[in-house]
Amino acid sequence: MTQKVTITIDGKTTELPVLAATEGKNVVDVRGLIAEGIFTYDPGFLSTASCDSKITYIDGDAGILMYRGYPIEQLADNSNHLEVAYLLLNGELPTPTEYESFVASIKGHQDIDQNFQGIFNGFTQGAHPMSMIGAAISGLASLYHEETDIDNAQDRMTTAHRLIAKIPTLAAMAYKHGRGEAFIAPDDSLSYAENFLNMCFGTAGEAPNVSPTIAAAMDKIFILHADHEQNASTSTVRMAGSTDCNPYAAIAAGVSALWGPSHGGANEAVLDMLNEIGDESRVEEFVNKAKDKNDPFKLMGFGHRVYKNFDPRATVMQDSCHAVLAEQGVEDEPLLKVAQKLEKIAREDSYFIERKLYPNIDFYSGITLKAVGIPTELFTVIFTLGRMPGWITHWNEMLSEPYKIARPRQLYLGESKRDFKNLAER
Ligand code: CMC
Repeated sequence: MTQKVTITIDGKTTELPVLAATEGKNVVDVRGLIAEGIFTYDPGFLSTASCDSKITYIDGDAGILMYRGYPIEQLADNSNHLEVAYLLLNGELPTPTEYESFVASIKGHQDIDQNFQGIFNGFTQGAHPMSMIGAAISGLASLYHEETDIDNAQDRMTTAHRLIAKIPTLAAMAYKHGRGEAFIAPDDSLSYAENFLNMCFGTAGEAPNVSPTIAAAMDKIFILHADHEQNASTSTVRMAGSTDCNPYAAIAAGVSALWGPSHGGANEAVLDMLNEIGDESRVEEFVNKAKDKNDPFKLMGFGHRVYKNFDPRATVMQDSCHAVLAEQGVEDEPLLKVAQKLEKIAREDSYFIERKLYPNIDFYSGITLKAVGIPTELFTVIFTLGRMPGWITHWNEMLSEPYKIARPRQLYLGESKRDFKNLAER
């Protein structure tokens, strides 16, 4: 039987249908309210489903994350990032032939037009790579605008392949430019993660020499970040895309949203925080700062809007993190000891327990990346690479069905009508 919710405002009763989910919570369909002249109020979208989607399912209370129905733990253990990207984009895992042709397509799109590479010369050396990446992705529209028909499914898929293929190259160029080093061209013989690492840390003219441990850790980080349903950056991509703008511009908007320390910038912020704490003896002082309502300081890498028991990505990342620390022999590094003490105190402290604040993926990914020697300014860039398949899949999903321009309303709390006074009268 179809469920309904009845609301009464000013004596007038309206019935709202309840839409059934295949997994998780059903939602009250409030679309009919506008006809009654009623709007809902939900800053930060805490209670609002902005769309329907078939891509990713999260149960924050049970700590479940699935891409297209596959549990993240199984994908992290058995798959690789390009296979996961295919799954997200197409809805099914690829057959061997489909996988081969997808990988070939990605490798075929990795290069960046020689003239376009000059865009990096406009950026100051030492600039944060995220600032350059956003601009460079947006700039891709200048190369592909004319040949991208967003109403054509094939064009949308080509755009998706291009973005997944080119983001490691652009990210590595941003990194190399920041350090004043020569770019390294993509290498078809390497895996996705190896190629990215080689383009960042290799030396032009020398044969690739990428650590298999670091490449495997990187690929797992990419998989764990590949999608996360309607998070801030994905919602930004959908919102920008709903105006029918060029897809590269919509993705660039997502990159900007991801950069913030409350979102993808948290992995970098975790390391900044650990550096600021500096020594195990100061951990308690910082935990107290985080608990102090008069202090804006928050423990970076703790808490999540959706996960209220544990973050399943953090669980996978935690295991991988400890394995990497042991393998690299850096468990005793002072900063990592600070991290371990912080995690222990926060897990035992009633403030964090009552508010269900657990270490999130950024806590462990930040520490893992630090342990394998990745420079801090690349942390959020790595999140960006990982999230690209998710963003473009959501954009494609939205454009594949009828959609409306995203245009929220507001609760106006400003002045009522008043008459203008000339300058001399004020
Ligand atoms: N340290 C200290 N207190 C915190 C923290 C924290 N990291 N996070 C939340 N709280 C407190 C907050 O002050 C509030 O307390 P009270 O109820 O007394 O007012 C309570 O916990 C609820 O917090 P909230 O701000 O209402 O929660 P939210 O869902 O709006 O925010 C969050 C979620 C992730 C933005 C927030 O927890 C945060 O800023 N964490 C640190 C940044 C971080 O690690 N972000 C990465 C998120 S995971 C990667 C991703 O998916 O993007």
